[in-house]
Formats: sequence, structure tokens, C-alpha cells
Amino acid sequence: MRATATAHPNIALVKYWGKRDGGRNLPAVGSLSITLDGMRTRTAVEFDPALQSDEVTLNGRSDGGTAARVTACLDLLRDRAGRATRARVTSANDFPTGAGLASSASGFAALAVAADRSLGLGLSLADLAEVARIGSGSAPRSLFGGFALLRNEPDGGVRCEPWLAAADWPLRVVVAITATGPKATSSRDGMAASRDSSPLYREWVRSHDADLAAGMAAVRQRDFAALAAVAERSCLKMHAVMFTTEPALIYWEPATVDCLQEIRKLRQRGTPVFFTIDAGPQVKAICEPAAVATVSATLAAVPGVSRVIECGLGSGARIADD
Ligand code: PMV
Repeated sequence: MRATATAHPNIALVKYWGKRDGGRNLPAVGSLSITLDGMRTRTAVEFDPALQSDEVTLNGRSDGGTAARVTACLDLLRDRAGRATRARVTSANDFPTGAGLASSASGFAALAVAADRSLGLGLSLADLAEVARIGSGSAPRSLFGGFALLRNEPDGGVRCEPWLAAADWPLRVVVAITATGPKATSSRDGMAASRDSSPLYREWVRSHDADLAAGMAAVRQRDFAALAAVAERSCLKMHAVMFTTEPALIYWEPATVDCLQEIRKLRQRGTPVFFTIDAGPQVKAICEPAAVATVSATLAAVPGVSRVIECGLGSGARIADD
């Protein structure tokens, strides 16, 4: 009744922002991501008949805010197992939590894998994706390594699948940390506000399929320039929606903008690199392996950048060896 799993965060190259109506945490748009190897979440799940409710500890502290989402995921698995037993969930990240580094994606992917094993269910990846998505819309992507695709199906369902193996295009990512505090507005609240108030939201959703198709083709063809163009476009469109939400969602710090400008300058001088930014102030620079030292040194020298983390492409969530 106990198991531990690890998972890496993922970052979207073609972004997801916004949910469909009707609950179940269904995304309004698909997304294409890479799973990173330089950061890790480790989650232990123990079902214990003595517990009255699920207990969640995140980074050594009891976490009531996350507990409701954890319970929603575990309830799906308990239903499948025909059990009502509550669980003790202990999770830790080796990177800043809730700061736009996709800790919820790695956290809920690891939770689904560990809880499935502790209940002895042996669910398919498609079923685990459903469980992880209830916790965080981007979490199903962390079940897979390399490049992962999450897309809406014509029948109203969602499908998450591997799109290209890490070894087939081993890009590198330099994450520039510009602030480590938790974000002021959660993605979930921000997405609801964007849908209700941004004048750009409808166009974001309408034009998204074309961006996703362009991203999928660029990855399959390993066309760096084409991927750079669609990834930066998708990122900036998503932030345009955020900026025009009421109240405005401005996740950026001054150093975020400075990093972005440095990346554009590097590319103009011939370095194969592009940026993406999520619901937080950190900048992720994706580059060819030969460029990683230049990109790292450039971003580390930007005032306001406290640290850079270099990552390769990682594997999907899995049961921990020990
Ligand atoms: O997983 P969520 O529901 O917290 O959404 C995260 C959304 C972004 O990180 C901003 C974009 C993405 O596609 O990962």
C-alpha cells in the first residue's frame, strides 16, 4: 500500500491556457511540451486505514491548498480500486515550487504513478493521464519523456502521447531564475479570469490549432528555426492574453524582459536559441547542445538573474528504484 515515484517538470513549446466549460479540468487548447531532466519531484503515497482524511506534505510542510486537488485525483483511483482508504502523500521538489517551473505538472504526474502502484491497479498511461489532469492541466505531459503532445479529440476527450523521443532531438534548456516566491495568481484562477475578461482570448483559442500543427511538424522535422518561431509566437500570444485579462496577469519581472532581449540578440548573432515563459517570471531558453555554454553565461550575467539551471530532455514519470 506504499510506493514512491519521481517525475520531471515539463515546459510547453506550444502553450495551453484556458479550460473548456463543464469541469473535469479539460483544456480549451492542446499543447506540445518537453520534459526536463535537471529538476525533479519525488512523491511517496501510502494508503493507511487509520487515516480519516488524506494528508499532504509538500516540501516538509502540511499543504491544505494542494490537498483538495490531491484528494480529487486519489478519489478517481479509489473508485477504480473499490476502496475508501485515505492516503498519506509526501512530496518534495529539488527546485522552486509554485514559481512558474511546472512543479504541479511533475507533482501530479508522480502522484498518479505512485498512487496507482500503491493500490496495485496497473492503469494504462491514458488512464493515468486522466488522473494527473484532474490535479493540473499540464501534468499528463510529465508522464512522458522527450517531446509530449496533449490534444483535444473530436469526440470531446483529451489524448496525451509521446511525440518524439529525447534521444531523437536532444535539445538543451537553460532556465534563468529571476524570482523564487510563489506566484500571486494561480494558473487555474488566471485561466478562468482570462476566459471571462481578455478581449484576445477568443482569438487565442481560434488560432491555436494552426500553432499546434506548426509545432508538431517542426519537431518531427527537427527544424529548429521553425520551432523557435512557433514557440515564441505561442508564448507571446499567451502572455498577451494574460496582460489583457482583468485584473491584468503580469507574471514577468524586469529581468524576465532583459533575458528575453538577450536571447533575441544571441539568435540575431547566429546562436540557435529561443525563449519560452510560463505563468511565472522565469525564462526558459531552449538551444542546440553546442550553444548551451554561451546561453548559460549570457543569462547568468543578466542583472536580477539569481541562478541558471541547465537541463537536458528527461524521461517520463516512473516508480523510484529504492
Ligand atoms: O498545469 P496548469 O493547469 O497549472 O497550467 C499551466 C499552463 C502553463 O504552464 C502556463 C502553460 C503550459 O502549457 O504549460
